Amino acid sequence: MATVTFEHVTKKYGEVLAVNDLNLEINDGEFMVLVGPSGCGKTTSLRMIAGLEEITGGTLRIGDRIVNDVAPKDRDIAMVFQSYALYPHMTVRDNLAFGLKLRKVPKAEIERRVKEAADTIQLSNLLDRKPKELSGGQRQRVALGRAIVREPAVFLMDEPLSNLDAKLRVQTRAEIARLHQRLGTTMVYVTHDQVEAMTMGTRIAVMSDGLLQQVGTPQQLYDNPDNKFVAGFIGSPSMNFATVTASGTGDAAVLTGSGLSIPLPPRLRAAADSVHGKTLVAGFRPEHLDIGDAGANMASFQAKADVVEYLGNDELLHLSLGGMDLVAIVSSGHVVKPGDVLSLRLPLDKLHLFDSDSGEVIRGDAAVAAPVAVTA
Ligand SMILES: Nc1ncnc2c1ncn2[C@@H]1O[C@H](COP(=O)(O)OP(=O)(O)O)[C@@H](O)[C@H]1O
Ligand SMILES: [Mg+2]
Repeated sequence: MATVTFEHVTKKYGEVLAVNDLNLEINDGEFMVLVGPSGCGKTTSLRMIAGLEEITGGTLRIGDRIVNDVAPKDRDIAMVFQSYALYPHMTVRDNLAFGLKLRKVPKAEIERRVKEAADTIQLSNLLDRKPKELSGGQRQRVALGRAIVREPAVFLMDEPLSNLDAKLRVQTRAEIARLHQRLGTTMVYVTHDQVEAMTMGTRIAVMSDGLLQQVGTPQQLYDNPDNKFVAGFIGSPSMNFATVTASGTGDAAVLTGSGLSIPLPPRLRAAADSVHGKTLVAGFRPEHLDIGDAGANMASFQAKADVVEYLGNDELLHLSLGGMDLVAIVSSGHVVKPGDVLSLRLPLDKLHLFDSDSGEVIRGDAAVAAPVAVTA
């Protein structure tokens, strides 16, 4: 088992800065997910851990050892790729054993490890088949099995579920999580899918454009995003954003936008002077809006329902408000119809406020803050 530490790690491909000054400490035994949109540098970061990409600058450690110049085969890692890359002419058993044979692991030891891995991920009855005789999900399990038999200090996985259909993806997701619980080995898992990240990660590192945006537990990222990018990327459907202007002070401090007038949340009062007169972005999640009149410490506004999507327990509402589109999720008991004009309410402690230029979150007085401040 091992930690993985990036210290000011940079990767350039010619003029392309794929990874920009990455600082990230992955703890021993942790399930760390690297998530972000396509092209943000996730695969490059993972391949640098594997030793498949040279590092342009900085220091990379696995455990206490600096591995910048250590060959991939000497790093004690195992990587699972999106494409399963199985040997088509070999049986499952031979696919699992192949890497160990190359490393001259004794035969009895190979047999033990293959049996254990096959038991762990339910491949025992498939050992004599060839890859073409397996379903996509089974092939992906063989690819996982091939990593497991290595008994590595760190597992690296690059979008391993993206070739599976939706149902199998959910199943395999749980299987990988179970595998991690059972083995307790450090895992670094890359995905562009924030749902995968939220459901699997002990912690999540969100990347954009080669830059690390925030690291935290799923709940920290959801409750306390550091910036507008993370706020919009984590959570489904995405957070609503509205441009507002801050004015007034004390109890009268207010955020106004088209069709919106939101009292400045108490925890942000300390920041009222510094944001006065500024254009800001207010953010609030669809699931924090509700239909009904506002109570204490709530904002309220009227919006028209354009489209209603029935989801069973809930209804997803596409709303328009002063030329702006919003999304709300409310109980389907409300039976909203397109064209209905609704009174909506939002608890003020669920409101996020961002600088409209930098996208950085505006934090209030930590002492008054209702949600717990992030400590990583
Ligand atoms: N071998 C390469 N040569 C040149 N540019 C590359 C190479 N690999 C990746 N890139 C570029 O580096 C950036 C990050 O890529 P990548 O790490 O694959 O992103 P992700 O896995 O997050 O989709 C992208 O702009 C991509 O085009
Ligand atoms: Mg990638």
